[in-house]
Amino acid sequence: MTLNNIYNSQYIAEIATILSLINMFILFVLWTVKTLCYPKVIVLKKGDTRHINEFIDLYTDTIDPDYRIPSDLITIYLDQSVGQSRNLVDMIYVCTYKNTVCGYLKIVYSNDYKILFIPYMGIDRYEQKARNKAVTLMLNKLTKVIEKRFIDCNSVVFEIEKPKHLDTKNIVSQKIARIRHFTKLSKKLDRFLYKIDIDYIQPSMPTETEDEHPEEKCLLMYIPLKTSTKMNHLNKKEVMQVISFLYKKVYQFQKELASHDVDIYCKYIDKLINKYEKNLHQKVNLIEFIK
Ligand SMILES: CC(C)(COP(=O)(O)OP(=O)(O)OC[C@H]1O[C@@H](n2cnc3c(N)ncnc32)[C@H](O)[C@@H]1OP(=O)(O)O)[C@@H](O)C(=O)NCCC(=O)NCCS
Repeated sequence: MTLNNIYNSQYIAEIATILSLINMFILFVLWTVKTLCYPKVIVLKKGDTRHINEFIDLYTDTIDPDYRIPSDLITIYLDQSVGQSRNLVDMIYVCTYKNTVCGYLKIVYSNDYKILFIPYMGIDRYEQKARNKAVTLMLNKLTKVIEKRFIDCNSVVFEIEKPKHLDTKNIVSQKIARIRHFTKLSKKLDRFLYKIDIDYIQPSMPTETEDEHPEEKCLLMYIPLKTSTKMNHLNKKEVMQVISFLYKKVYQFQKELASHDVDIYCKYIDKLINKYEKNLHQKVNLIEFIK
């Protein structure tokens, strides 16, 4: 090998090192820009203290105390074994922007009932990027999770408080916004969104007495997943499944986690279930929501 050749190969090696450093630098810049400038959705995990604390702050800020379970009870499920004892998958998705939580979406899936419930969804109204993107990103994520992980899921359900006389303009817009977002979810899933036509009652919160938080009249919303054909009704048995899932697996279970004094609450839940059992017709109408 001539001296010239040796110099040349050294030169090439140096150039290659410089190019790979530049490459790494560009990748690092792109990664930083992506992390800082684009919102992303992650599952909240036990031990992720920073995001858990930010989630709790946003959750307590956005949901009226009358309608939410205390934050220690909502985060108890981050330990997946809590739900597993009841064959439930309980997860909280958060949307982060600049690595800060700006939105959340909580789901509960029952492996027994094959029903997915969405109890809470909220965004940081002061973070413009969140206002524009967070809900859409979280619902996109949920769509993928339903299609890939909960393939046996029969239906998605959620509650919306009924409009009231004293609702402020803002509360009305929030209720409409929720319906709009869930209509979008049903479209993404290529399914219809219905209201189950019953006088649905959201039980008093498991951590409060009936007097502290009287039961709330809600719209019980329903997206059937097993058919994309338009439906007119559900059988009473199917409606009772949805109600039992919500009352027993969600509300009553929360009560059991919150206190040892569950007897009165269990009786109260049984009383509500019996009322439906007694009053529902064999066929219950489904009211389609405008797409
Ligand atoms: C439901 C929600 C995610 C929809 O937000 P959105 O996609 O921004 O909807 P819109 O842009 O149509 O806004 C609807 C209204 O909600 C208001 N809003 C948005 N985020 C809000 C928040 N975190 N707290 C209070 N009001 C909020 C908006 O200001 C708007 O009111 P306006 O029409 O008087 O200006 C949002 O309203 C929210 O986070 N609400 C608080 C949590 C909540 O109540 N969730 C439902 C029960 S689980």
